[in-house]
Amino acid sequence: MAANSTSETQATMELNHYDRESELKAFDNTKAGVKGLVDAGIDRIPRIFYLPTDCLDKTPVPRDVQYIFPTVDLQGVDKDPIQRKEIVERVRKASETSGFFQVINHGIPVSILEEMKEGVRRFFEQDFELKKEFYTRDITKMVGYNSNFDLYSAPAANWRDTILFNMAPNPPKPEEMPAACRDIVMEYTKSVMKLGPLLFELLSEALGLNPNYLKGMDCAEGLLLLGHYYPACPQPELTMGATEHADDDFVTVLLQDHIGGLQVCYQNHWIDVPPSPGALVINIGDLLQLISNDKFISAEHRVLANRVGPRISVASFFSPKRQPSSKLYGPIKELLSEENPPKYRETTVRDFVLHLHKKGLDGTSALEHFKL
Ligand code: OGA
Ligand code: NI
Repeated sequence: MAANSTSETQATMELNHYDRESELKAFDNTKAGVKGLVDAGIDRIPRIFYLPTDCLDKTPVPRDVQYIFPTVDLQGVDKDPIQRKEIVERVRKASETSGFFQVINHGIPVSILEEMKEGVRRFFEQDFELKKEFYTRDITKMVGYNSNFDLYSAPAANWRDTILFNMAPNPPKPEEMPAACRDIVMEYTKSVMKLGPLLFELLSEALGLNPNYLKGMDCAEGLLLLGHYYPACPQPELTMGATEHADDDFVTVLLQDHIGGLQVCYQNHWIDVPPSPGALVINIGDLLQLISNDKFISAEHRVLANRVGPRISVASFFSPKRQPSSKLYGPIKELLSEENPPKYRETTVRDFVLHLHKKGLDGTSALEHFKL
């Protein structure tokens, strides 16, 4: 009897496992992503999207956790040395405590921000025959769209489709980009590639280094632009728009729309990152936590699925990711001392990124693997 039920359980598990693989493949083969499911009118989400319940907690923040999402006003940063000092101080505090802050007066006109979100919407909502030409899992492609970069490795699929542009140091040719958004992607990239170096100057100063230090390490060289499309979800309590993760770059500049759902983990509680028109959210990535030897925090964050949608966001990842460079990144020597010995071994960016891809978004930190 006991043996029987054990083998029955096993059989059920194997069946589930088998089903999962083929269901993932079937979903992938549609090339229509999550939006395709929604367009087909489903009212229950497929089980490949079910998250283990322990990853779904939505407990409210206790009253004793005081947290005001930090805002850094960049007005005057290049003109007034006293103001710059204050700005650096705010950047330092946010980077050391939560790893997240938002910037205002960052120099990118609201019209460009709005058109960038619209461009992503146009791409995802265009004729399927045109869109599917861009569907790929080839990470060496300069431009590509798919649903869940980690579809086959993560424990659960997310309610999200993404288009990716590898914009710097070598951008794709305009004709390689979808007509629906190529002009604005190029224009937005130009703006973000001006903001990025400024952020790395401020972060260098906040680490007590000379302003050009992080730029000198090529932190601002590579830019990967991700346009996310989170369709409305009929059962948001069963899945996530993005499973909790930290970013595998130096710094991310995030443009989000008005829908909300992005949360950051602060002192073990999930805190909303409130949409704020015209602002850009900045967060520290794993590679900056690694080279700062844990002085700066690459915070875990996630995106809740929502009955309302689509939610659109654009994440600009600063990382020399796609360069097959052998350059090694480890804790910055100037920050180390007898009391502060290196906590991580050196790694190439490529090895770090490959490790995350292999692991998928599973709720664990990619940094652990590189700890000494
Ligand atoms: C990401 C990410 C958040 C969002 O792209 O890594 O966390 O709001 N995006 O889409
Ligand atoms: Ni992220």
